[in-house]
Amino acid sequence: MTLVSVWEDRHPHPPAAPAELSGSWDVVVVGGGITGLTTALLLARAGRSVAVLEARHVGAGTTGRSTAKVSALQGTRLSRISRRHPERVVEQYVRANVEGGAWLARFCDDHGVDRQVRAAYTFGFGSRGAAAARKESLIATRAGLPVTWVDRPDLPFETQGAVRLDDQFQVDPLELVDALAAQARAHGVTIIEGVRVRRVNGTGPVRLVTDVGAATAGTVVVATNTPILDRGAFFARVSPARSYSLAFRTSHPAVDGMYLSADSPSRSLRDAPADDGSLLLIGGAGHTTGRTRSPAARLDELRAWTAEYFPDAVETHAWSAQDYVPHHALPYAGPLLPGHEEILVAGGFSKWGFTNGVAAALALSGRILGGQMEWAEAFRTWGAHELRGSVDSARMNAEVGFEMTRGWLRPLARPGLGVAPAEGDGTVRLDHLGAPTAVARTAGVERRVSAVCSHLGGIVRWNDAERSWDCPLHGSRFGADGEVLDGPATCGLGRA
Ligand SMILES: Cc1cc2nc3c(=O)[nH]c(=O)nc-3n(C[C@H](O)[C@H](O)[C@H](O)COP(=O)(O)OP(=O)(O)OC[C@H]3O[C@@H](n4cnc5c(N)ncnc54)[C@H](O)[C@@H]3O)c2cc1C
Ligand code: FES
Repeated sequence: MTLVSVWEDRHPHPPAAPAELSGSWDVVVVGGGITGLTTALLLARAGRSVAVLEARHVGAGTTGRSTAKVSALQGTRLSRISRRHPERVVEQYVRANVEGGAWLARFCDDHGVDRQVRAAYTFGFGSRGAAAARKESLIATRAGLPVTWVDRPDLPFETQGAVRLDDQFQVDPLELVDALAAQARAHGVTIIEGVRVRRVNGTGPVRLVTDVGAATAGTVVVATNTPILDRGAFFARVSPARSYSLAFRTSHPAVDGMYLSADSPSRSLRDAPADDGSLLLIGGAGHTTGRTRSPAARLDELRAWTAEYFPDAVETHAWSAQDYVPHHALPYAGPLLPGHEEILVAGGFSKWGFTNGVAAALALSGRILGGQMEWAEAFRTWGAHELRGSVDSARMNAEVGFEMTRGWLRPLARPGLGVAPAEGDGTVRLDHLGAPTAVARTAGVERRVSAVCSHLGGIVRWNDAERSWDCPLHGSRFGADGEVLDGPATCGLGRA
């Protein structure tokens, strides 16, 4: 069972028909989320022949499970960047996000995608949060954002004030994705769904290998959120961050803006128009993918919090999603390897991909077409600013090493496949040959697959909310039957 987001429920996409693949294009984009589709559309508008290869269907990744606030005020993101980078880089980041948001607003207005203009807020529950919000306010002002301070934001719980940025907006992300895909097709882009790219190699042309054939391209843009290619080791530069969302029916909008707390517990709030009133979206309870005992308990934590402050809200949907947080705090858009322009990557949006994904698309399409944005320097994939995350990077990769060891040791305490797990449960055990085996029971069927992640050999853990196997190393996820749900893995779990 996969939890379904409110957007997926509103815009069901039938499973993509099995495709056969062959052909050659100027540019092949891998991944049909906001980043890939925007890149494809920009390049097609400039006259390039473009194909998008998408493993499931457009919007099936993080984009279709997002909260979809489009804002240049992003919690305390600017403070995080300014701790590691000079003021000039913070300004470039802000300019990129303002430009990404403006492009998206124009696209929505030109193509009939409903968007609701709202103020964005970063608020503090307590004095620490308020201090963090005040600091963010200061840095945002220095970087050119017209923020103001609000002592009493209109929320049904006590806060210590909030920084506010007017005239931001929110969307239904799958309405947006469908419009981007339609426009891309109208400009001649070939979108092929149901095709998972397994390998990308060669230069001039680059060859993309999938289960159903191969394609070639002058340039490949890997827009799979976390790159599916290990060259460049981007998987070791980001942490996969999973978090939870709930939608509730309310008679009228329960909040007047897009809110995010600066302190713990992290809480995100927004409304969404609905046919029979309004929806309240609550998000939070995040953690590194595969490193919590019970994701279902995280959803319950959010439910209990909402019941306290919005007692009349009736739950309609619950889901989770993941994004990738770079150790040096900046997103990236550029060559996979230094000096090689034929394979480009984008990602590391730290849960702010609606502005950053569009900015990355503008930067990459500009790069391919020979133009340049001055702010794109902040998104460089290779440069001195990478080093400014090296302390965090060392710590995060030490944690990855710890999880690798722990994952392999834990099943030693559970030899033998033993009693079958209860419905909805899963466990990792050693089989009679001593191989870690992932055993789960879903929809009344017991399934056994190898517990060894097909990416780099981490041991997967059961996710009791999404009923999936999640890798605690770099965030690959697999269904109970072992099929890939999220990368960097490109192959499923092996047979038990
Ligand atoms: C809980 C949550 C809330 C968020 N809220 C916000 C918000 O309010 N505002 C905001 O700006 N951002 C938000 N974000 C972040 C934002 O949603 C993401 O950064 C953004 O959607 C990433 O888009 P993308 O196109 O880069 O990746 P994705 O949308 O993940 O698209 C990547 C695509 O690549 C495909 N793919 C993967 N591997 C392969 C392969 N091997 N072959 C072919 N295709 C492949 C996937 O199926 C997927 O469709 C949120 C994130 C989370 C987790
Ligand atoms: S995601 Fe890298 S080892 Fe599993």
